[in-house]
Amino acid sequence: RDLPPTKVWGYNGQYPGPTFHVWKHHPIHVLWKNDLPERHFLPIDTTVHGAEKSQPEVRTVVHLHGGVTPDTSDGYPEAWFTRHFKKAGPYFSHRMYTYPNHQDASNLWYHDHAMGITRLNIYAGLSGMYIVHDENEARLNLPCGPFDLPLIIQDRSFRADGSLFYPSRPAQPQTAPTPSVIPDFYGDTILVNGKVWPYLNVEPRKYRFRVLNGSNARIYSFSLSNGAPFIQIGTDQGLLETPVRVPALVLAPAERADVIIDFSTCYGKTIILENDFETKGEKADPETTGTIMQFRVNEKLSCGDHSSIPGWLAPVPKFTHVDRTRSLKLNMRKDSYGRNIHLLDDHLWSDPVTEVPKLGQTEVWSIVNETEAIHPIHLHLVRFQILDRQPFDVDVFKQEGKIILTGPRAAPDLNERGWKDTVRSRPGEVTRIMMRFGPYPGLFVWHCHILEHEDYEMMRPYFIR
Ligand code: C2O
Ligand code: CU
Ligand code: CU
Repeated sequence: RDLPPTKVWGYNGQYPGPTFHVWKHHPIHVLWKNDLPERHFLPIDTTVHGAEKSQPEVRTVVHLHGGVTPDTSDGYPEAWFTRHFKKAGPYFSHRMYTYPNHQDASNLWYHDHAMGITRLNIYAGLSGMYIVHDENEARLNLPCGPFDLPLIIQDRSFRADGSLFYPSRPAQPQTAPTPSVIPDFYGDTILVNGKVWPYLNVEPRKYRFRVLNGSNARIYSFSLSNGAPFIQIGTDQGLLETPVRVPALVLAPAERADVIIDFSTCYGKTIILENDFETKGEKADPETTGTIMQFRVNEKLSCGDHSSIPGWLAPVPKFTHVDRTRSLKLNMRKDSYGRNIHLLDDHLWSDPVTEVPKLGQTEVWSIVNETEAIHPIHLHLVRFQILDRQPFDVDVFKQEGKIILTGPRAAPDLNERGWKDTVRSRPGEVTRIMMRFGPYPGLFVWHCHILEHEDYEMMRPYFIR
């Protein structure tokens, strides 16, 4: 589409931000400096948690999603800072964060995490990729160099003048100011790496794509127009044990998939990356959100394709014992303005901390989704494995708090059987995940990664002691 240029925010003047490439066990320090303007260009009237009034400048804090990072560098939502932050304490317009990188090769992403306005800051452009490399992966002879590319997929809407459009909440009859958060946002235009419906000229060979769904709320089910499958080699937190052929790749916000696409028999063809996930009962329109991008296989082979897809990638060891289990529900309640809000286990952000795992212990969390929506649930610091999903009787649960299971346990999809940090919890299902808390103690968060839910009110602190 021909539109005038769009103002966005970014990191070092780039949207998406520059891609980090780091090596396992090689720590880095990053100085994050807030140079955002005085005022947001997206509609905020009054946001939750009152911070707008006390601090009118745009606040931000950066979180490395999937990073195994001490809490002081994790980007706690309330650790935000502004351009001219003048509060008692050592913080000014910048923060020095340390990323130890003691973790396996994986595709992480960094993004804004400021309390109550994350949806607007990420929408404005504050996100980028962070790729961890390690020796095991380097030995695998996967497609590399120019044949290894990140694909950050985000939906946006634009006004006729080219500016980013994000809806403001319709005015309510109450006189009291109410939070500006809308229930969820779906854009009508798809961006890949910051470009609207782009194409990529490719050679007839294997490519590796590190796909990230960086959208506010949209879930995708990707497929290729020539019917070829994706060969998925990795999940959120690193390589699968073995490659998996995936004809339809579903990714909720914040989920990542590391995939290989083989164009070697496609010379001269154009292959479309499509999406056919139904959003709120509506099919994706092939003219808009049903189309993501094109691969034009019209380049000559620059050299032979010597990459391979090994049958064995990396070990994903199972946990052998459980120290503790918790049952945590996803539910809805009316807020004090009479609006429906989503909650984690019926708690507000400001309620006392209820999840206090012990350092080094393993836990199984049963996420009981009594709402009508899919929620991508994310925990900071830890990687987890999905054990299973099982349907339950929602009405009985709502009335009596009893879980009556109504069907067999379903094992996770083949391409979910690796390390994850974000899991789709579907309505009417108990989703069980397992993790070991650590290696750092301290204060972290867990939340739904639909950004409108995260901002209001589906986020909770948790504390590792
Ligand atoms: Cu993508 Cu709390 O993070
Ligand atoms: Cu995170
Ligand atoms: Cu949610």
